[in-house]
Amino acid sequence: MTYQMLSIKNLESGYGKMQVLFGISLDVKPKDIAVLIGPNGAGKSTLLKSIFNLVDIYKGKIVFKNKDITKIPTHELIELGISYVPQGRQIFSTLTVKENLEMGAFLTKEKDLIEKRMKEVIESHFPDLGKKLDDYAFNLSGGQQQMLAVGRALMQDPQLLLLDEPSLGLAPKIMKELFRKIIEINQEGATIMIVEQNAKQATKIADKIYVLEDGKVALSGDKNILKDKRIEKIYLGGR
Ligand SMILES: Nc1ncnc2c1ncn2[C@@H]1O[C@H](COP(=O)(O)OP(=O)(O)OP(=O)(O)O)[C@@H](O)[C@H]1O
Ligand SMILES: [Mg+2]
Repeated sequence: MTYQMLSIKNLESGYGKMQVLFGISLDVKPKDIAVLIGPNGAGKSTLLKSIFNLVDIYKGKIVFKNKDITKIPTHELIELGISYVPQGRQIFSTLTVKENLEMGAFLTKEKDLIEKRMKEVIESHFPDLGKKLDDYAFNLSGGQQQMLAVGRALMQDPQLLLLDEPSLGLAPKIMKELFRKIIEINQEGATIMIVEQNAKQATKIADKIYVLEDGKVALSGDKNILKDKRIEKIYLGGR
C-alpha cells in the first residue's frame, strides 16, 4: 500500500443530529494538492472541519501519516503538523498583523522561535505583510486579510494545510497572487487540501480533485474529471 499523508475511510460526521457526511473515503499523497469542489451545502467545509476535529464524528477513520487521528483534539493536531484556514476571513481584526501571526504559533512557548518563524513566513511568502506588522488587521484590504489568514496558518510550519475557499470574494488579480503563493507553499513541501469553488482555478493547481455532492464523494480523479459531463449535472441538478 502506498504511504498517504492523509487517508479517510468511510467517514460519517455532522453537527449533533444533523448528519452531513455519509461514508467519505479519500486519500491525499504527500506533497499533493487535493482540491475539493461541489455545490453549496455539499459538505466541503464539514469535511475539513472533520479532519481538524471540530465537528461530531459518528463513524469512520481519519489517518494522518499512518497515525489514527480521528479522536485527537484540535490543539494536538496542530502540534502533529496540521493547520486549517476556515472559510471566511477568520482573522482577529482588532489585533495587529504581528499579533495575528503570533496567535498562529500559540502552542510555541519560546518567543525567539516565534520571531524566527514569523520572519520566515514573511520573507518567503508575504513580504507585503512585513510592511504592515503594526497595522490593525481591519485596516488591511480583503486580499491582505486572506494572505494574513494563510500566513497565520503557516506559523506552525504545517505538513498538511487545510484551506477552505481562500479565494472567496477576491478580485481576479489578487486571487491569482494568492494561488501563486499556495503553489509556492506546496513546492516547499506542504501537502494541501483546498476547497475551491472556481473550477478553472482548481484545475490549474490540483493533483487530485474530489467532487462532493450531498455528503458523498460523487466523482474523483485528476484534472480531466472536470470535462466529465456529470460535473455539470452535479452543479445544476440535484438540489
Ligand atoms: N454549525 C452547523 N450546524 C448545523 N448544520 C450545519 C452547520 N454548519 C453547516 N451545517 C449544514 O451542513 C451542511 C453542509 O454544510 P457545509 O458548510 O459543509 O457545506 P459546503 O459544501 O462547505 O457549502 P458552501 O459551498 O456553501 O461553503 C449544510 O446543510 C449546512 O446547512
Ligand atoms: Mg463551505
